Formats: sequence, C-alpha cells, structure tokens
Amino acid sequence: MRKIVILTGAGISAESGLGTFRDAGGLWARHRIEDVATPEGFARDPALVHRFYNARRAQAVEARPNPAHAALARLQAAHDGEVVIITQNVDGLHETAGAQNVIHMHGMLSGALCAACDARWQAPLAMGPGDACPVCAARAARPDVVWFGEIPYRMVEIGQHLDEADVFVAIGTSGQVWPAAGFAQQAARGGAWRVEMNLEPSDITGDFSETRLGRASEVVPVWVAEVLGA
Ligand code: APR
Repeated sequence: MRKIVILTGAGISAESGLGTFRDAGGLWARHRIEDVATPEGFARDPALVHRFYNARRAQAVEARPNPAHAALARLQAAHDGEVVIITQNVDGLHETAGAQNVIHMHGMLSGALCAACDARWQAPLAMGPGDACPVCAARAARPDVVWFGEIPYRMVEIGQHLDEADVFVAIGTSGQVWPAAGFAQQAARGGAWRVEMNLEPSDITGDFSETRLGRASEVVPVWVAEVLGA
C-alpha cells in the first residue's frame, strides 16, 4: 500500500479567498516581512503584528474549503495506504474539509503562544499586545505561527514521513521558503514519485517527476480520482 505525503502551500487556499504571499498583490507586496513575520518585528511593534494576524484570522474564520481541500480529505479517507498532509498554511481549511492529523509546520492562526513561558491556548479572534498569558500572566501573547528565523514545527516527524513516502505531492507552493522547499529532494532520495500541482512552474519544479499546472480546485480532484480509481 503506497504511502502518500502531501505538502500544501498558500495556493491551495487561494480559491477559498485567502491571499497568497508572492503572487502579484500578495501579502508580501503589501507588508514587510521584517515588520510582521519576524521575532524582531514583534519585539519592535507587537500591535502592528497583532493587527496583521487579526486581519488574517478574521478572513480565515470566514473562508470555506474548496474542492482541493475536499479532495485531499477524500483521499485520506479512501486510500488504502497512509496519507499524510503537511501544510505551510496557518488556516484550518484542511481540518474544516475533514482532513485528519494535519501537520501545521508553520503553526496556526487559531493558536496563541506565550513568548515568555511557551504556554499555548486557543487564540481569541483578535489579539493585542496587552493580552496576558493564562499561565504565567506575562503580557507576552503572540500568534502561534512560525516566523522567519524560527524553526518550523515537527520537523523530525516530517523528515521520517518524507523518507518513507512512495509518493510526494506539493500543491500550491512557490518553493521559495526552506525547509519545505527541500522536501521533494529528500523524498527523491527515498525513491518517491514526486508530483507538483501549481498554477505556474515554481522554484522547485525541477525536483518533480511530473508537474500538473492549473488551479488547485481543478487539478487536485482529478489527481485524487486517478489515485483512488487506479
Ligand atoms: N491553485 C494552485 N496554485 C496556486 C493558485 C491556485 N488557485 N494560486 C496561486 N497558486 C500558486 C502560485 O503560483 C505560487 O507558486 O501558489 C503558490 C503560492 O506561493 P507563495 O505565495 O510563495 O506561498 P507559499 O509557497 O505557501 O509560501 C511559503 O512562505 O511567507 C512564508 O510562511 C509563509 O507558509 C508561507 C511560506
């Protein structure tokens, strides 16, 4: 039974109305990474960072999964081998679509983290710099998302999945951010067949056995139907 390991990026949530980072007009065209997605930026102006994530959290709670999220949940439920979904996204659309045990390597907008004691709790819809940690009471609450310069979550587990993968799939990622950008190469070393599904060729297209270009809500269901029907 083939083990399928899937990496998703912002492109899978684009058709659910959530902006990507590096497309024209994307988040990084409108915000400076160093201001809103680094520990230094948070230390400098926590209110600005909270406003940035509060806006994304409000959008994410209103967003609905699209056929690509639904197809992956269907694959997990129906495939006779293991299907592991690793996402760079901080929205919860995979879970809303019914996916199980999703690995959020960059954290989640729905989570809050204490910068003083590492306590974690369910984030309120809007967070602010005065929010106190429910455990240590420090006014050091931050979104539980991984910023540039920080280590992504569950990397040891992810590496094991990549080494065991028979098929590795990347959906909706530009392949510009490491370590996720290196996942296809690691899966290749383990002998995996690699499939990229993206709106356009990415920085890592050369790492794949095949690339299927198109909108995720169109190409992902087609691929899932092939896998389940095979
Ligand atoms: N269907 C499929 N792919 C799409 C769609 C769509 N409807 N719309 C956009 N894409 C593709 C784009 O062509 C692009 O290659 O999705 C990719 C999005 O790339 P990025 O915006 O760079 O997002 P991502 O690769 O997920 O970024 C990785 O960078 O800023 C950090 O932490 C952030 O997790 C993020 C990481």
